[in-house]
Amino acid sequence: MAQTLLNDTFLRALLRQPTDYTPIWLMRQAGRYLPEYNATRSRAGSFLGLAKNPDYATEVTLQPLERYPLDAAILFSDILTIPDAMGLGLSFQAGEGPKFAHPVRTEADVARLAVPDIDATLGYVTDAVRAIRRALTDGEGRQRVPLIGFSGSPWTLACYMVEGGGSDDFRTVKSMLYARPDLMERILEVNAQAVAAYLNAQIEAGAQAVMIFDTWGGALADGIYQRFSLAYIARVVAALKREHDGARVPVITFTKGGGLWLDEIANTGVDAVGLDWTVNLGRARERVGDRVALQGNLDPNVLFASPAAIREQARSVLNSYGAHPGHVFNLGHGISQFTPPESVAELVDEVHRHSRALRAGSV
Ligand code: CP3
Repeated sequence: MAQTLLNDTFLRALLRQPTDYTPIWLMRQAGRYLPEYNATRSRAGSFLGLAKNPDYATEVTLQPLERYPLDAAILFSDILTIPDAMGLGLSFQAGEGPKFAHPVRTEADVARLAVPDIDATLGYVTDAVRAIRRALTDGEGRQRVPLIGFSGSPWTLACYMVEGGGSDDFRTVKSMLYARPDLMERILEVNAQAVAAYLNAQIEAGAQAVMIFDTWGGALADGIYQRFSLAYIARVVAALKREHDGARVPVITFTKGGGLWLDEIANTGVDAVGLDWTVNLGRARERVGDRVALQGNLDPNVLFASPAAIREQARSVLNSYGAHPGHVFNLGHGISQFTPPESVAELVDEVHRHSRALRAGSV
C-alpha cells in the first residue's frame, strides 16, 4: 500500500525547505514526567523491560503524541543498548542511573571488544521501529508524523563503557584517553562501526531521520574533542544510508556543550546540528547559513515557570532564529522527570502559534 506522511514538517525543516510553522519534538518526550509512562513501566517491571519489549516500547513512544500535537515520534530505547549488546552487562539501579557489570578498563578488555551482530543482539530495537511505524499509520496507509531513530556517539558510549556508569569528572575515561590513546582509539573505532551498523539497521526498519547523541563531547578539551569525538561522528555519518524507500533520511548530531565547535560540527556532512541553551540561534545561523538546519534550544528548566513565562521564552527562541527555513524546535537537553505535563502543552501550542505568525510577518 502507498504510504503518505500526513505531517512532514519536521523532515522538511531538517532539509531547510519552507514550512508553514516550526516543528517541535522534545528529547526524552516519552519519559517519567508522564504518569502513563510510569504506569506502563511498572507493568513492564523495569526500564529495560520496557525498552526490550517492542509492544511496550511502541506504547510509550506514542504516549506523548496522544497528549500533544508534536511533529515527530522518537523510538523509545536508550543509547546504552550497544554496549549492552557488546556483553558489558547493563543494569539500571533505581535512583542511581546505568551500571555496567563489565566495564572496559584493561588492554585485554579492549582487545575483546567487537562490533555486535545487530540482528542477533539488537533485533528488539529494529522490531520496535517496525511496530512503531505500523502504530503511527492508519488503515489507509497514512502516517501521522515521522519516526526518529537514534544512537549515542562513539565517544559518549565510550564514557559509559570505561567509567562503568555515569560520572561527574570522567576521570577513568580521560585517564585512558591521555595515557593510552591507542586503546581509546581502538574502542572508538569499534563503537563507530557498531553505531553505523545500528543506525543503518534502524533506517532499513523504517526510521525516517536519525540522531546521534554526543552528550559528553562537551566535557573534552579543544583539539581533543575534534580528534576523539567529532572525527568518529564524521566516520559514522559517512557510513550511513542517506536514502531509503525513495526518501532522504536526514541526520542530526547533538554535542551538548558543543556550541564553540559549531562550524566544525556543521562540516561533518550532517543535515542538522542540535544545540543547547548556551547558544544564540540567530548568531549560530549566521555562521552556518543554510549548510545545516539547527535544532533546539530552550532550557528545559523553563518548563517549571508559569504558562506566560514558558510562552515568552519559547517566542524568544523562535525570534532569535527568525522566519528562515531550517529550524526544528526542541529543548537544549532532555526533559526533566519533574516537569508538569501541562507545561509541555503550553510550549507546543506557543511554538506552533508564534512560528505561524512569524512567517506571516504579523509579529
Ligand atoms: O527521547 C526519547 O524520548 C527517546 C528515549 C531515550 C531515552 N534515553 C529513554 C530513557 C533517549 C533518546 C535516550 C538517550 C540517552 N540515554 C542519552 C543521550 C541523551 C541525554 O539525555 O543526554 C544518555 C546519556 C542516556 C543514558 C541514560 N539512560 C541515563 C544516564 C539514564 C538514567 C537517567 C535518569 O534520569 O535516571 C537512562 C535511562 C533512561 N533512558 C530513561 C528514559 C526514559 C529513564 C529511565 C526510567 O524510566 O527509569
